[in-house]
Amino acid sequence: MPPLADDDVWRRLLAGDVPGADDVEPGSSAADLLERYGPLVAAGSPLVLAQLGQSLDGFVAARTGDAVFVTGTEDRRHLHRLRALVDAVVVGVSTVATDDCRLTVRAVDGPSPVRVVLDPRARLPPAARLVAGDGPPVLWCVADSAAAGLVAAPGVDVVPLPTTEGAFAPAAVLAALRGRGLARVLVEGGGRTVSRFLAAQALDRLLVTTAPVLVGDGVPGLRFPGADRLADALRPPARRFALGPDTCVELDLSALRA
Ligand SMILES: NC(=O)c1ccc[n+]([C@@H]2O[C@H](COP(=O)([O-])OP(=O)(O)OC[C@H]3O[C@@H](n4cnc5c(N)ncnc54)[C@H](OP(=O)(O)O)[C@@H]3O)[C@@H](O)[C@H]2O)c1
Repeated sequence: MPPLADDDVWRRLLAGDVPGADDVEPGSSAADLLERYGPLVAAGSPLVLAQLGQSLDGFVAARTGDAVFVTGTEDRRHLHRLRALVDAVVVGVSTVATDDCRLTVRAVDGPSPVRVVLDPRARLPPAARLVAGDGPPVLWCVADSAAAGLVAAPGVDVVPLPTTEGAFAPAAVLAALRGRGLARVLVEGGGRTVSRFLAAQALDRLLVTTAPVLVGDGVPGLRFPGADRLADALRPPARRFALGPDTCVELDLSALRA
């Protein structure tokens, strides 16, 4: 059998079928695809991923919120591959308000996930492209207290959730998604949303792509109550990939819980 081409590997991964290392030519781009995404497919379900693209000094956007683009085109393709491999993609409402993102899969072949917005105060802009009704379903997670009388656009389901001090417990968000059959989840941003899931130990894998760019001051990426001593810092098993000029590091946070 000739070695598999990139498209063959990707099609099989989308179908949940991980080719063997012998099916690809060592050192080829097909081997890279298999190495990057094979373990995420093999991990099965449930699986909670998070991603951030950040500058070398740890910002996910400039101070105006401009995030176009922190990382390069290879990382954008990588992000779209992650979207295609999950059932649902989760963002905080500030990301929708700032980026007017669609959260669909466009840069590679593959299905678009259900889109989920965490928005306790129901401040999702009504004109956001996400709720234009021409894409995959949207779950609009709002605080119980804000849900009464909300009118959602076609294709948008209101999901009322309890809050503590104005915030949803990540476990409650994930339980609501699993209750809808959405067990493979990508928490896509921004920094506050990913940080909350990280602090709550709700993530299995965290993929941070760092670009060789310095922003100086901007929207921070990860911030969580860390340890006093470096000896107690989180040091999960890590894998590293080059994405053009950027570097993606994948942390296996599930290993810390094991
Ligand atoms: N480079 C990247 O990878 C990337 C990815 C995504 C976004 N971004 C950028 O990141 C910036 C936005 O990031 P951000 O950190 O400021 O905000 P964010 O994470 O997008 O949204 C934060 C807001 O979402 C709501 N939220 C999030 N998690 C919640 C939870 N567990 N419970 C309740 N509410 C929750 C809260 O809304 P309330 O304030 O109403 O309580 C919170 O203030 C934008 O500039 C965007 O362009 C970059």
